[in-house]
Amino acid sequence: MMAADFPILKNDRILKAAKGEKPDKLPVWVMRQAGRYLPEFRDFRQKHDFFEVCQTPEYACEVTLMPINRYELDAAIIFSDILVIPQVLGMEVEMKPKEGPVLPNPLTLEMVKDLKTDGAVDRLDYVGKAITLTRQRLKGKVPLIGFSGAPWTLMGYMIEGGGSKTYSKAKKWLYAYPEQAHNLLNLLTDVIIDYLVMQIKSGAQLVQVFDSNAEYLNKHLYLTFCIPYLRKINVAVKKMLKEQHINEVPMILFAKGGWYCLEEQADLGYDVLGIDWTVEPTFVKNILKNKNITIQGNLDPCALYAPQEELEELVQNMIKQFGSERYIVNLGHGIYPDAPTESLETLTKSVHGFSI
Ligand code: CP3
Repeated sequence: MMAADFPILKNDRILKAAKGEKPDKLPVWVMRQAGRYLPEFRDFRQKHDFFEVCQTPEYACEVTLMPINRYELDAAIIFSDILVIPQVLGMEVEMKPKEGPVLPNPLTLEMVKDLKTDGAVDRLDYVGKAITLTRQRLKGKVPLIGFSGAPWTLMGYMIEGGGSKTYSKAKKWLYAYPEQAHNLLNLLTDVIIDYLVMQIKSGAQLVQVFDSNAEYLNKHLYLTFCIPYLRKINVAVKKMLKEQHINEVPMILFAKGGWYCLEEQADLGYDVLGIDWTVEPTFVKNILKNKNITIQGNLDPCALYAPQEELEELVQNMIKQFGSERYIVNLGHGIYPDAPTESLETLTKSVHGFSI
């Protein structure tokens, strides 16, 4: 399937904002917008296992479109998970209803050599197929976002065997076994590069790199163990696309809790930086004022619990503080499963009601 075969795009707000052009209205989408806060998603999950949905393009497409059918969102994000990479590297990953992801055999130093990197991205071709199918089904309504976990965030889940309060087992590698840590991060980086290129070739119109575990590090650790790999991902993806005569797509970096090295993130070549809800807009604006970069964020996911008029006021205030230039509205992290469904309608209406 060639890009030219896809339906013509009718809503390019997010692409314009990402490239520094002026859209007609501010774009808005929500991390985890295809998720458990939607009753139709919960019904679907009663019938299908989490990874069955990820691995079946028809199902992944259906779930991706759920929030798009309900709300005036300006982008779709393909339904999948960052943990499909550890999975195709040979690690077992289970999605438990209460605990979230569990990797029953966490990665040890000895296990790294057995990770199945050969053909890893070929084993992810179901994501490419889901993207291509979704591009067709979207009929050009909004752009489709692809994504991957960042090397450090994937390393964290692989070593801890799931989520963690401290990520101390994974951080131990950074202090006690830095060489092995770099070796693992390099291996993951190479897979991520091929994976993102595959998603773009399949039809992804933007890609986001989720570094959700940035918050457990500090500037020194982030500069040593994350920044070089995030740079390599950006440079290598763009280079590979160029070599294959495929148009570049905007790249978004979301380092949750990574406020301590925002300036360094801005110099990596990404088009958009995601900002979590703990960061003041003035802090972000100050650091990024002379950088050619778009800001994405950062409404507290819990603001969706506020009465609707108050939510509207919070959204309007946030936009005023970030300013409408080079700005994409989003939450400062993923939406929670108990978020009121009407709040997303209030959010999208409030954003589109702001005249720019
Ligand atoms: O954004 C979207 O709507 C697209 C789909 C998407 C999912 N996970 C589906 C999902 C995306 C982009 C992700 C990314 C992801 N997965 C991240 C990075 C973003 C972040 O939140 O920081 C991380 C860290 C993961 C790993 C993961 N997957 C966790 C920690 C959990 C459990 C916590 C939770 O929010 O439920 C998951 C499960 C998961 N991934 C669900 C969904 C819809 C819910 C599980 C279910 O359906 O039972």
